[in-house]
Amino acid sequence: MGCCVVVGGAFGDEGKGKIISYIALKDNAKIAVRGGVGPNAGHTVVYNGNTIKLRMLPSAVVNARTRLLIGAGVLVDPVVFLKEVNETGSQSRAFVDFNCAIIEQKHIAKDNEGHLKEKIGTTGTGTGPANSDRVMRIGKIASQERLLEKYLEDVTTSVNDSLDRKEFVIVEGTQGTLLSLYFGDYPYVTSKDVSASGICSDVGIGPKRVDDVLVVFKAYLTRVGSGELQGELPPDETIKRGWQEFGSVTGRIRRAAPFNYPLAKRSVRLNSGTQIAITKLDTVFPETSGMRAFETLSQPSKDFILSVESELGIPVVYIGTGPDSEDIIDRRK
Ligand code: IMP
Ligand code: MG
Repeated sequence: MGCCVVVGGAFGDEGKGKIISYIALKDNAKIAVRGGVGPNAGHTVVYNGNTIKLRMLPSAVVNARTRLLIGAGVLVDPVVFLKEVNETGSQSRAFVDFNCAIIEQKHIAKDNEGHLKEKIGTTGTGTGPANSDRVMRIGKIASQERLLEKYLEDVTTSVNDSLDRKEFVIVEGTQGTLLSLYFGDYPYVTSKDVSASGICSDVGIGPKRVDDVLVVFKAYLTRVGSGELQGELPPDETIKRGWQEFGSVTGRIRRAAPFNYPLAKRSVRLNSGTQIAITKLDTVFPETSGMRAFETLSQPSKDFILSVESELGIPVVYIGTGPDSEDIIDRRK
């Protein structure tokens, strides 16, 4: 089973949370460890009639046996972290690396004014300014934060020890490859690299540790904030197609466009993807809603999946057909 790294293939909001929650339950992950930027992420998990919104904790939270860790590269907002720990009752299994950097009030204030707010259209959660202080080596780290005292752990060692024991570990990426500081359309990017290599670095594992890189795409593209979106639809067309979404952190309207093969190819390559997940197939092909077997899909929706496979050259292993963790076609079966 080993190590599966899950990353977003586009501009974030691909539905990683849903796919990760399914895998965590199905394959009974021992550890889920979060990489990525920080609480600028918003993951929604729907399971057993409950909707859980997460910005800090791994989406594997739905499996009560999975340990929930946050890697050293990630920025932690202690208030957001503690709220999620309490809401999900995960006090005994959620831990933060000693070296995570801390988001302070001044970072949030700075992220909500001037260049960052007006030009970049950030999420306003303080991540860019906190990373900036971290690089300047004037930031505060988790081991200095009293609120986190009970939740500190040497996450890097835990993850590597678990992999030595051949346990199943999910490494959870956030944002999407096309928002990467290095590979996106700078300056309209987030404040870190969020491709698979960056996510591995966040949690302290080397490239040879990874068995699968699962790249998650939605059946169409969305983007919040500024920056180019190739093939962007006018708002009325987005609504007509039922593709309108609102940001889970900021509540902003997400811009939408059809699935883009060249962008997806680039993303698979940047991540050395071995598997693909396509989410929200039922939003583009409503007749597929809730389906759990590939054979039952309509011909146009099957054709879409098959063309993704032939264009991108790796298998589409998971297909999301509804919001619940179990609304999924798992083609490993
Ligand atoms: P920041 O990461 O808050 O600095 O925002 C930089 C850009 O990345 C903005 O366009 C945000 O809307 C976008 N962004 C950051 N995190 C996410 C995410 O989790 N989903 C979607 N867009 C995001
Ligand atoms: Mg999101």
